[in-house]
Amino acid sequence: MIIIKNHQQLELMRSAGRIVRDTLGELSRHMLPGITTAELDKIAYDFMLKSGATPSCLNYDGYPATLCVSINEQVVHGIPSKKVIVKEGDLVSLDVCACYKGYHGDAARTFAVGQCTEEDLRLVETTKEAFFHGVEILRPGVRIGDLGNRIQTFVESRGYSVVRALEGHGIGSSLHEEPGVPNFGAAGRGVRLQAGMTIAVEPMVNAGGYDVKVLDDEWTVVTADGKKSAHYENTLVITENGYELLTI
Ligand code: MF3
Ligand code: CO
Repeated sequence: MIIIKNHQQLELMRSAGRIVRDTLGELSRHMLPGITTAELDKIAYDFMLKSGATPSCLNYDGYPATLCVSINEQVVHGIPSKKVIVKEGDLVSLDVCACYKGYHGDAARTFAVGQCTEEDLRLVETTKEAFFHGVEILRPGVRIGDLGNRIQTFVESRGYSVVRALEGHGIGSSLHEEPGVPNFGAAGRGVRLQAGMTIAVEPMVNAGGYDVKVLDDEWTVVTADGKKSAHYENTLVITENGYELLTI
């Protein structure tokens, strides 16, 4: 079931979105070589609590942390650890989900730490551009397949691939709601968007092939070919005339 949000629910989603945005802002100031991913996790946890929110991912299906921190060939759902130290040249993807008064916000960014290769910077930039190229057309009546197709076509035109095993999602009083929001597919197919739908659009872009696998920790998703991956995600609401980003 797709849940259309009313004005009051949207106000709460705006608040949740701002907390997610500000958590990412706080984390970005600490994204330097030498920090452990467990330290980043603690910063996010403290920031959310101080903001009146709770971490949506913590205990979600047994997930053990506030953040997902996924480095280089890790695509998503990397578990923060005291043993993992961010280093110069890493691509570090942070996925931040917070719940404020019962409503969730969800956003992800990939940070290029220190001096990175031109090739890696291009991957990060392309992932962000793919998001904006995709959402540009969003308004009532547009189909989910139109969005996925735009993201896929854009990414593949740059010589990269979109992950197919994972997708964006509706979001609201649950972190994951209907509809699923794939980053690939056929235009003209799928659910038609309506004003008041809230979705998280989240292209995951691989430098190599689209195949992924899950590590033995049962969470960390990595590229099958070991090449790097980047992630860019925002929560947004479909409006009468277009869309409004909630996590920027
Ligand atoms: N942002 C992630 C997503 O959209 C949420 C991960 S929460 C976790 O799926 F618990 F699954 F890690
Ligand atoms: Co998400």
